[in-house]
Amino acid sequence: MRIVHHPILGDETRVCNAIITVDGRQIPAIEGEPIAAALLAAGIKKFRETPKHNKPRGIFCAIGRCTDCVMIVDGIPNVRTCITPVRDGMIIKTQKGLGEWSEAR
Ligand code: FES
Repeated sequence: MRIVHHPILGDETRVCNAIITVDGRQIPAIEGEPIAAALLAAGIKKFRETPKHNKPRGIFCAIGRCTDCVMIVDGIPNVRTCITPVRDGMIIKTQKGLGEWSEAR
């Protein structure tokens, strides 16, 4: 869900102009918006699992400080999705534990 009418910021005029792939699912996004915003708009709230107890984590601080939102982005683990802008064609995966580097980038 996106906020399309805001009392202070006004109406949303941008349109989805990018596609990102999240755990194999294609998600429409707005180029330049934070990855986390695109995921929340698509109803995705679980971004990673904790290393020890596999507990779900999602967006928390939304300013790049807590690392709860880290995911594997284009093969790179521990990317803070709340401060990383969307680029068309990004491949994003839910991070389990500390994540693993992927050969395919
Ligand atoms: S939500 Fe805290 S770093 Fe992204």
